[in-house]
Amino acid sequence: MKDLKKYIDSMDITKEAPITDPERQYYYIKKAREYVKAASIEAGRPLTFCVTTFGCQMNARDSEKLVGVLEQIGYQEEVDEDKADFVIYNTCTVRENANMRVYGRLGQLKHAKKMNPHMMIGLCGCMMQEPHVVEKLKKSYRFVDIIFGTHNIYKFAELIATRYESQRMVIDIWKDTDKIVEDLPSERKFSFKSGVNIMFGCNNFCSYCIVPYVRGRERSRNPKDIIREIETLVADGVVEVMLLGQNVNSYGKNLEEPMTFAQLLTEIEKIDGLERIRFMTSHPKDLSDELIEVMKNSKKICKHLHLPVQSGSTEILKKMNRRYTKEQYLELVDKIKAAVPDISLTTDIIVGFPGETEEDFLETMDVVKKVRYDSAFTFIYSKRTGTPAAIMENQIPEAVVKDRFDRLLKEVQDISAEVCSVHEETVQSVLVESINDHDDTLVTGRMSNNLLVHFKGDESLIGKIVDVKLSECKGFYYLGEMQ
Ligand code: 5AD
Ligand code: SF4
Repeated sequence: MKDLKKYIDSMDITKEAPITDPERQYYYIKKAREYVKAASIEAGRPLTFCVTTFGCQMNARDSEKLVGVLEQIGYQEEVDEDKADFVIYNTCTVRENANMRVYGRLGQLKHAKKMNPHMMIGLCGCMMQEPHVVEKLKKSYRFVDIIFGTHNIYKFAELIATRYESQRMVIDIWKDTDKIVEDLPSERKFSFKSGVNIMFGCNNFCSYCIVPYVRGRERSRNPKDIIREIETLVADGVVEVMLLGQNVNSYGKNLEEPMTFAQLLTEIEKIDGLERIRFMTSHPKDLSDELIEVMKNSKKICKHLHLPVQSGSTEILKKMNRRYTKEQYLELVDKIKAAVPDISLTTDIIVGFPGETEEDFLETMDVVKKVRYDSAFTFIYSKRTGTPAAIMENQIPEAVVKDRFDRLLKEVQDISAEVCSVHEETVQSVLVESINDHDDTLVTGRMSNNLLVHFKGDESLIGKIVDVKLSECKGFYYLGEMQ
């Protein structure tokens, strides 16, 4: 990051902006600095920002890039959104309720903006990739300053500079891209762990899912860039990385020199000083024997696999375009459990997909009982305009879905409490992440299998990997003692 600052400082902003990125963005960062400086002199105080993230890990990682740019141009972080001068929402649109939350909060921001002449409001992320959303914003939310999507997040500094220059709403949305811009600023939330994008987009087109429409086609990052980024992170104190992609198991297919995800993991494993590797999300249809073998032999890959099943009914899976059957999924689970016996399995399940009968739902319950997940994210099907499922016949009545959802949740929670408790009295290696939220004599750490444990300790332990005896299971977490 130090070098990056030097590079940005050396840009000559009296000249035209460079055409190529990232240099062009360095130029605009320097330019935006001047604008922010002038505005803060006028305000008589430093200007502040607050980034709010909705949705998945991918968005969380993107938000670190937003923070990186905002800090580079001279804004200071403010955790209280009501007090910040620059408020940006990094949005999600996987389910309808995420959209409603954004509109609700925007209403409140309108009021705050009236009171603060230096205030700017930005919107970005998946929701902005939907044309009807942008139309609505243009019509009814004129007070928003900057709107951009998922493909051009790297242009954030340029868009801020443009907003300062034009005094008008700046909208820049791209339909798709094949561009990946490296070496941009980013500010990590945790000093000791980090998300690392390995690919963007999704080609699967599951029939309920909006992601392929808002995140575009699959693009893998160059392995050299990924390794270089992780090496830099490790030199900076990171011990755990989470490799991110909508479908990591199809990593590398579109590279000039194709490479499998398992091969990438093998390369990452070799990085000295890196202790733990996680990844997310795996599509069952692409999970290879090669990957299972690599997981089995790895010292660094965590004993946790998130393997979304979505439904246990082969009939529904077909309508979802998941391209596996119930039996194939269960076989895959057996294979993984045989190779890595202490693996923790988690999943995503959708209830109430169009046409789901009680029998279909019972198939899902059956998978839950057979696999015995450590935990499962359960979702009520949400109709996303533009997806094939939105126009399927036989949408399920709300009361039926709610009843199934409650039954599923109870099953998932009962099993998960049983599965989690099997580690009682064992000693596990734990990465200490934070001081406990409720009791500051305790710290909270994460085991390889992703479970949390709370134990006596202080701030000096944060970022360290220590041995902890799990003395008591509290359902979804443990109380323990450091050894
Ligand atoms: N309705 C409900 N849940 C959905 N998901 C994706 N699209 C929808 C939808 N339209 C869930 C899937 C996915 C997770 C990230 O969100 O289970 O794995
Ligand atoms: Fe959506 Fe399916 Fe892609 Fe996951 S794999 S992002 S559920 S289309």
